[in-house]
Amino acid sequence: MPSVYIETYGCQMNVSDSELMYGKLRAEGYESVDVPHGADVVLVNTCAIRENAEQRVIGRLGELRRDLKPGAILGVTGCMAQRLGARLLETDTRVQIVVGPDAYRMLPALIDGARQGERFSATDFDLEEHYEDFTARRFEGVKAWIPVQRGCDYRCTYCIVPTTRGPERSRRLADVVRETRDVAEQGITEVVLLGQTVNSYHDGTHDFADLLRAVGAVEGIRRVRYTSPHPNDFSDRVIAAMAETPAVCEHVHLPMQSGSTAMLKRMLRRYSREDYLACVERLRAAIPGLGLTTDIIVGFPGETDGEFEETLSLCRAVRFDDAFTFKFSAREGTPATRMPPEWTVPDAVVDARYDALVATVRGISRERNMARLGQRLEVLVEKEARKGDLYQARSRDFKTVLVPGTADSIGRYLHVELSGTTGATFTGTPVAERHALPMAG
Ligand code: SAH
Ligand code: SF4
Ligand code: F3S
Repeated sequence: MPSVYIETYGCQMNVSDSELMYGKLRAEGYESVDVPHGADVVLVNTCAIRENAEQRVIGRLGELRRDLKPGAILGVTGCMAQRLGARLLETDTRVQIVVGPDAYRMLPALIDGARQGERFSATDFDLEEHYEDFTARRFEGVKAWIPVQRGCDYRCTYCIVPTTRGPERSRRLADVVRETRDVAEQGITEVVLLGQTVNSYHDGTHDFADLLRAVGAVEGIRRVRYTSPHPNDFSDRVIAAMAETPAVCEHVHLPMQSGSTAMLKRMLRRYSREDYLACVERLRAAIPGLGLTTDIIVGFPGETDGEFEETLSLCRAVRFDDAFTFKFSAREGTPATRMPPEWTVPDAVVDARYDALVATVRGISRERNMARLGQRLEVLVEKEARKGDLYQARSRDFKTVLVPGTADSIGRYLHVELSGTTGATFTGTPVAERHALPMAG
């Protein structure tokens, strides 16, 4: 049996695509292996979101070519493959196949061609492609990533994703529900619905509210999450579905990007500071105890001190549980690269703002977490923690909680008391599950 190794970079959508590729190749008679060394086929599933993501891949390709066994086939898939296409074949002569996110169906044929010495890049978009007949080979046994939408129809001026993933399209609700049933039958109790603006999901008949309710109703599914929603696509219907579907977790990852309306306009985010705040308020009013996380970019072209201050002040107003912070990276072909050169924010300013943002975000996160000590909640044990003999678990509102356990604990639900925090993550002490008590008058 030929063996295949896939190394994955980027977002959960890429992780999910790697699972589909592994599944497809397994169905074609390949064995999947966990290390590149000795594999017959090595695929690097890449991300193009920021320059450093691509640099990492280029460095890694250099390492891999030294490590490959003679005759092994090296391929590049994913967003960088889509972005660079045949250019990758020219710059890296060891790479034989380049396959974009909509062309994974061609993988077996392309690998066969590569065996005959062919070199090929396949980067056409296919708006019908959802890989419905592929069976994902899942990396994790606790939660399942389920793509519900591919591509993106927003055109945020910094972003390469519309170029690398093509136009937005949604899977049929019935197909998503079928996949959810399949994973539930395998004993998986948590699903994460994936899409670039996942709450704009619409399959022609059903919207994201219908989808949340349908997935939440699948027997055996105890937790439903989704990522990433766009603030403009939180209709009242979607918020109501979230609030009324018990399985849907009390957590939203709501990318903010900036706290300045002028900046948001240059980013073409299509909402203002006030709109964002209003969205947060609607969500919090509907869903008590909501965990809220976000993405923020610093150093986007034209960012003034005042605009950056507005980002800090919106963070203070919202008080996120956590935030992923990024330094703006110019991506070839995006509208941001055509902005006046004098708008470029000097590196030293970007660095200073980045540090200030991280300090603000961490400070808020720490305060929020300290205030939670002593609370009791349910966690799902996901995996062994990186250090010590603890296991890493998650609360419904997306807090990381380290708990004592054994390998058997993985996939189990525990009731814990939050007994300590580093400021970012918690330690939890198991407690007996309390039966519901009547509300005190
Ligand atoms: N579709 C998602 C975002 C996917 S990319 C959404 O709209 O929410 C994940 C994050 O990377 C973005 O939210 C943004 O904060 C960041 N990002 C995207 N392009 C970037 C760029 N060119 N430079 C820096 N950060 C970027
Ligand atoms: Fe990129 Fe904007 Fe689409 Fe998100 S919504 S993938 S940031 S273009
Ligand atoms: Fe990266 Fe593509 Fe995801 S650019 S973030 S892997 S959609």
